[in-house]
Amino acid sequence: MALDSRFLAELKARNNIADIISTAVQLKRNGTRHVGLCPFHGEKTPSFTVFEDTASFYCFGCGAGGDVITFTMRYNNLDYIEAVRYLAERSGMALPEEEGRNAAYQRKKRERLYEMHKLAARFFYKTLMSPQGKEGLDYLLGRGITKESIVRYGLGFAPDSFNALKDHLREQGYSPDEMLAGSLLARSERSSSSYDKFRNRVMFPIFDLRGNVVAFSGRLLGDGKPKYLNSNETEIYTKGNCVFGLHLAKNEPEGTLILCEGNLDVVSLSQAGFTGAVAPLGTAFTKEQARILAKYAKNIVVAFDNDSAGLKATDKAIKYLEEQGIPVRVLQMSGAKDPDEFIKTYGRERFAMLMKSSKTPIEFQLEKLRAGLDLADTAMKVEYQRKAVETVAAVESAVERDVYITKLAKELGVSVESVRMDVERYRKRKASTTQRQVIKAKEQELKGTYDRVNPERAGNIRAARSEEMLIALLAKHPNLWQEAERRLPPDQFRTSFNRRVYQFILEEYRASPDAQTPVFAKAFDEKEMARISYFVNTAMLNGDPMEQMAECVAIIKDEQAKRIDPGAFSPEELMQKLKGEN
Ligand code: UTP
Ligand code: MN
Repeated sequence: MALDSRFLAELKARNNIADIISTAVQLKRNGTRHVGLCPFHGEKTPSFTVFEDTASFYCFGCGAGGDVITFTMRYNNLDYIEAVRYLAERSGMALPEEEGRNAAYQRKKRERLYEMHKLAARFFYKTLMSPQGKEGLDYLLGRGITKESIVRYGLGFAPDSFNALKDHLREQGYSPDEMLAGSLLARSERSSSSYDKFRNRVMFPIFDLRGNVVAFSGRLLGDGKPKYLNSNETEIYTKGNCVFGLHLAKNEPEGTLILCEGNLDVVSLSQAGFTGAVAPLGTAFTKEQARILAKYAKNIVVAFDNDSAGLKATDKAIKYLEEQGIPVRVLQMSGAKDPDEFIKTYGRERFAMLMKSSKTPIEFQLEKLRAGLDLADTAMKVEYQRKAVETVAAVESAVERDVYITKLAKELGVSVESVRMDVERYRKRKASTTQRQVIKAKEQELKGTYDRVNPERAGNIRAARSEEMLIALLAKHPNLWQEAERRLPPDQFRTSFNRRVYQFILEEYRASPDAQTPVFAKAFDEKEMARISYFVNTAMLNGDPMEQMAECVAIIKDEQAKRIDPGAFSPEELMQKLKGEN
């Protein structure tokens, strides 16, 4: 649905951000600002701030931020369109002719699928608690799962029948075609008759982030194949986009998620108090799952099974999670094949100790390299040192690298200096091939951590600050936009993220000249929204806006003029320049 800027501007004007947020958070007013305890992370002193003048919010504690639409999306777990619909309804606005007949029909179909899954989950749960479910209940209790956990995860039992669920859902008004479309029935190949797909299994409902049941995973009571039977993908369920247990774990106050392999690991862990437990569903961990976890986690501990498949899966999970910029640690156990078994055997305290002693990905790599090698054997030692040096050389932060260099030297019984020399030599060699990349990384290293939203910022601090100031000015003084565009066309921006924001603002104001604040939420994701909200609300705007704008424009042009061409300098010279400039 394409929503036009005018509609969205009006939507924002009608839904005062302070009003909306104060229904969820207790706010204290301080001028045009309101502060309260952040609903997105646990805190005792308020750092969550609502800015009425820019119609946005920002939490100085956890970095959440955005406008009224972002808030509604996050707080109510809605997607963009749903949040808009919610706010429109709330303020008595009619949505613009949003969808054709077909779209309305599709929506209805999906809603029925959700409803049908809810009924099915209830049916399985009731069966589990009835005499008919005794075997299933005994199985779960026998594995140490408590009744509270059963309720918490909505576990159930599918009776040993080909039509129990089918009949039940039919009574509720659902057709076999709908049940087939929802992957609750299977169809025999020969006759075209359909029958209950899940039979005589303990049922794990799979929830989406809003708490809708979208699929099931059913476990056999004993041995046999397949151990788990899963729903096929349907209109409301895409495997690689769901994470088992995340609907509960996302509220984990510390923001530490534990990624394990199995559904039962998740239930066991959370029962033992590790409420951040989640698992990928049957499939290998996907990039999309990593992206979703990154939205909800501050850091992630990977606790896969203690076997070779688990080790391999761990590598991939580390890769995907690090791509998302999330700090990862690896938990390794011995004496048990998975977290569920570990907790049952050794108890929760021991597992807490494993969490504490979990390894960084580099430590994990080094351990894998060393496994099975005898360091007393010279050839093996040399081999290990060579590979270890390559691993450590890949660490971008010099401080971190030094930590590993020291450890490695100790382990090998050689001097720290010699290891450092090896590592740095290896880095140089690599640098000549990927010179520019390394320079970028160095630049970022100088400025601290990698900036995901605006990676170019670190290397262009002076320009970026003025760009952000200019954007903040425009957010507060819409009437300046034409003048800004005249003086500084977007292509003059040095950092592409800020350029995108600037371009967006100009387009917004062009489309709806009487807008009070631009509606960023339709074009930027959560992290980007938070960034925009941050600089728009923290920019030091004082004095005459026209003058300030002129200053910003001058600085950005100046930076543009003294742009360095990285190819023209050696890495050392370039580093000198970069250091000198900022
Ligand atoms: P595991 O075999 O490790 O199962 O598979 P588990 O969860 O530890 O179960 P228990 O302890 O043996 O009862 C890990 C995950 O892989 C998926 C399931 O999601 C399971 O939780 N899986 C496994 C399947 O989808 N199908 C299978 O046949 C087996
Ligand atoms: Mn298991």
